[in-house]
Amino acid sequence: MNKIEIQRNYIKKIKFINKLNKFYYEKNKPKVTDKEYDDIKKEVLELERKYNFLDSKDSPSKIVGYRPSKNFKKILHRVSMLSLSNAFSENDLINFEKKILNFISKEKDFKLFYSAEPKIDGISASLNYKNGEFKTGLSRGDGKEGEDITNNLATIKDIPKKILSKDFPEDIDIRGEVFIQNSDFENLKEKFANPRNAASGSLRQKNPQDTKKIPLKFIAYAFGFEKGLKLKKQSDYLKKLSNWGFKINPLNRIITGIKNLIENYNEVEQQRANLDFDIDGIVYKIDDFELQKRLGNVANAPRWAIAHKFSSSKAISKIQSIEIQIGRTGALTPVAKIKPINIGGVVVSNATLHNEDEINRKDIRVGDTVTIERAGDVIPHILSVDKNKRPKESVKFVFPEKCPSCGSQAIKEYNSVTKKNDAVRRCTSEGYYCDKISIEKLKHFVSKEAFNIDGFGKKIVENFWKLKFIKFPQDIFKLDYSKIEKLDGWGQLSVKNLIYSINQKKNISLERFIYSLGIRHIGLENAKLLSKHFISFSKFKNLSIQSDYEDLLNIDGIGETQVNSIKSFFSNKSNIRVLNELEKILIINNAVQNSDNGLFKNKTFLVTGKLNGISRAEVKSLIEENSGKTISSVSKKLNFLIIGEKPTKKKVDYAKQLKIKVIDQTEFLKMLNKSS
Ligand code: IVH
Repeated sequence: MNKIEIQRNYIKKIKFINKLNKFYYEKNKPKVTDKEYDDIKKEVLELERKYNFLDSKDSPSKIVGYRPSKNFKKILHRVSMLSLSNAFSENDLINFEKKILNFISKEKDFKLFYSAEPKIDGISASLNYKNGEFKTGLSRGDGKEGEDITNNLATIKDIPKKILSKDFPEDIDIRGEVFIQNSDFENLKEKFANPRNAASGSLRQKNPQDTKKIPLKFIAYAFGFEKGLKLKKQSDYLKKLSNWGFKINPLNRIITGIKNLIENYNEVEQQRANLDFDIDGIVYKIDDFELQKRLGNVANAPRWAIAHKFSSSKAISKIQSIEIQIGRTGALTPVAKIKPINIGGVVVSNATLHNEDEINRKDIRVGDTVTIERAGDVIPHILSVDKNKRPKESVKFVFPEKCPSCGSQAIKEYNSVTKKNDAVRRCTSEGYYCDKISIEKLKHFVSKEAFNIDGFGKKIVENFWKLKFIKFPQDIFKLDYSKIEKLDGWGQLSVKNLIYSINQKKNISLERFIYSLGIRHIGLENAKLLSKHFISFSKFKNLSIQSDYEDLLNIDGIGETQVNSIKSFFSNKSNIRVLNELEKILIINNAVQNSDNGLFKNKTFLVTGKLNGISRAEVKSLIEENSGKTISSVSKKLNFLIIGEKPTKKKVDYAKQLKIKVIDQTEFLKMLNKSS
């Protein structure tokens, strides 16, 4: 293995570890056993020891958030740490109260008092104090048995180490939530999806010094085992906690009546974006300890308490500003910058406003209080505006009619198909005149389906652009590497890797090349069609001279919209200059003419598992070049199942059952007389 290969192997392992961390910390679904995890980590550390040129900020030797071994001592909770049942609607609350009244055999008009406590979204912990001294601190664990994380908890300032108050019980487990404030999370947001994960990661560090680096807070709200606690109500307990030196939630309230619970819930939900800690609902507890005792527990949740959860897909926040983003094709997209808010575990700070019409229709303004929805993988958007909360000085948002980046007119084009003006306003500049459009074009140029330059992502495009290293696509192939080497975060080795990746991609197929130009309406499929039509780059480029655009309409799949767009591309001088420059640098391979009589005629393929050194996309195009087809599932129609690393067992078994030929990557390439 040469230096570059060693480096690659090293980075690959680190990336894998980070992926495992994600599953472990964020999804709570470990992908491998502790032993397997430790082995990979050991391999990385061993590599670093052996080759001192290896260095990565993501290495487990550097990172704070890496997985500690789960070797914390297990200790039984003297009183189990229960969980809470959830309520999502007023109806759920009505039922909750009804059941309580039935259980204690009281009439409808009996007044139940609740301690309503905002539910902090953190990690619960149980702290044992003996004669006022903090002795042991346990995590919740499975509720019955927790882990001894005393040393980590001891680093938290909010946790008193010694309590001298006379009325402090001689032996008590104080329970509460460990969490991280949103303002502190700001500095960690690159590493964790939300404050809760950051707190959890920090609490589980093997070395308390690492826990100390992340500023954790503690709020107390309950107790487990106790000896000498002489109180009658939860509200009295909360007051006492505060007297003893614990932090309690400033939004705790005593409330009676479902209507009042709902009112408080709505008020707190409105406050959410202004709080410096994440809450995901409100916990209601029967205030009277005597009643709590009578009610007892069902399974592992108390009958006397419930968590009234906020929606996991909606939240209320405030619009701080409205920005106009400019896309590769010049589309002006308004984006609302909102006060960050946790929606179902994801901290959201942007919401799309779609377009000008949408802003007008909903009369969305800067300063507005809005309900934001984040559903699935869709970009968060604004559902409604609370006009009662609108500041007096608020003004209507005026959508710019000029491109905010280059000042060109921004217009709504007439769509000849719908016979209407587009909803989207576009910058009318062409070629590489508009800076924002140019940056987006460059991002597209290096993207996965286009030039796919390894290690040359969006961030690098932005950085190199700012430094004026690149403006046109050809600049990517003419970089002054000695300047890059001097940049922060770069070194000899990373520059070497970059040179390698860029040089490797100088050889490109015509279809990828056409796609990478980012001509409007020419996506991957259309680029394929065009490449098959022109066969060679020179014929494609000649279009600018011969202007034989009408001919393109004969290509099945290419219509007037595409042709007009190609026409406008070729009528721009800077685009032609880019083509000429790239032609000098690149080897643009002719399209492979598809005979329908290839080696794989009437044959179908399916890939399962990870391939080595060849992408699925490349395998697919090899199959298609040879008149074969790829299909998406195992069936009688399948001829070959190509298996890579960790194939889906079900597919392999089923294929075998159907007596389908199962081959590996090498055998596949052999069929084509290629070696892997
Ligand atoms: S009381 C039986 N009070 O919610 C009582 N829990 O789903 C159980 N939580 O694991 C706990 N704020 O992490 C209680 N004021 C509060 C709370 C609270 C947050 C969390 C806690 C617990 C979970 C229960």
